[in-house]
Amino acid sequence: MKNPFAKVPDALARLLIVFAAVIGLTIVVVKFVIPPRFKETSIQWADTVRRENARPVRFAGAVACADCHAEVIAEKRKGYHSSTRPTNRPSNLGFDVGTPGP
Ligand code: HEC
Repeated sequence: MKNPFAKVPDALARLLIVFAAVIGLTIVVVKFVIPPRFKETSIQWADTVRRENARPVRFAGAVACADCHAEVIAEKRKGYHSSTRPTNRPSNLGFDVGTPGP
């Protein structure tokens, strides 16, 4: 019977052996050596949720919603209060009027 691997160059065969060894070693390390708690993603997820919840809530403005909620923006434009702006807030006046006295 003819050897089917006879035409495989010697260097390629060695390279395949090295690849198989590295892949096998990686599987063994990931499966059996690294402790399960190191592979647990819930810790990172919980940390991310805590970090995002700690961020201050800011008003994004209606423009931020227009990309995906065009129908809502169109309906708002038809409303009686479409041109109403909360101009009495100091942050909208462009300068700081200070806090009101007692
Ligand atoms: C990147 C796209 C995107 C942007 C930007 C976006 N939304 Fe949404 N929003 C969605 C999708 C998708 C849904 C789910 C729609 C559904 O389930 O029918 C949704 C749902 C909602 C809902 C619930 C609607 C319902 O009927 O339950 C509200 C309220 C909402 N968005 C408000 C906002 C506001 C306010 C903004 C701007 C600050 C905003 N969205 C920006 C994509 C977006």
